[in-house]
Amino acid sequence: MKLVQLSDIHVGSQFQPRVFAKVINEVNALKPDAIVITGDLTNEGLINEYKECKRLVSKLKAKKIITISGNHDYRNTGYLPFKKYFPFESVNELGKDIILVTLGTARPDRDEGEVGYRQNLWLERTMKKYPNRVKILAMHHHLVGIPDTGSDRLTVIDAGDILRTILQTNVDLVLCGHKHRPWVWNFGNLLIVNAGTASSIRLRGLFENTYNIITIKDKKVQVDLKIVGGKRMPIENIVKNYSQFTEE
Ligand SMILES: [Fe+2]
Ligand SMILES: [Fe+2]
Repeated sequence: MKLVQLSDIHVGSQFQPRVFAKVINEVNALKPDAIVITGDLTNEGLINEYKECKRLVSKLKAKKIITISGNHDYRNTGYLPFKKYFPFESVNELGKDIILVTLGTARPDRDEGEVGYRQNLWLERTMKKYPNRVKILAMHHHLVGIPDTGSDRLTVIDAGDILRTILQTNVDLVLCGHKHRPWVWNFGNLLIVNAGTASSIRLRGLFENTYNIITIKDKKVQVDLKIVGGKRMPIENIVKNYSQFTEE
């Protein structure tokens, strides 16, 4: 099973159409079984941005394209057109062995994310229904802070509650976006993966547009980072080759 995670497309003023054209070609050549887009499809949640984004996303070829809204999509009551242009299901069976569940973390006119008590209860009940599957959770906001992204108050504000649910229900992989900085936290049985931005100019830390390629075989999860127009590598390399910024 091959899954591509795109994130933070930002159609609008931060968008680079030529970069996204490359993304479309590269992703279609991979022939993924599914694509998940983890939020910030638009820059300001405006109808014209949604229309253009829909036109572009329609060029992607996969049996299933799962979209999640981000804080930028919620601007200007953008949650209303989001539903119209990108209807989605929260529970997605990918083959017989894998389940991908999405959480809505964006709130109108707020940049920080929140899962909320009810959605967290729902998540626990839902994940418990699939004890023998590889369980993937996808959300826009990041659950855990990421290096070099500054004073960070924009994780989901109830991250502790969600982390507890994730560990309790043996989730294997969490896919987040939002920070525009690719990263992975390897907690043994749990991988928390952050995607970079696929096509926005607002790059952070790793100054390239990227997306993630996830391969699941015999219940083993491998995540690769792909630089748009550049190389593909295991995402752990970003962590292994990390060097601390130091002032001489
Ligand atoms: Fe973003
Ligand atoms: Fe965001």
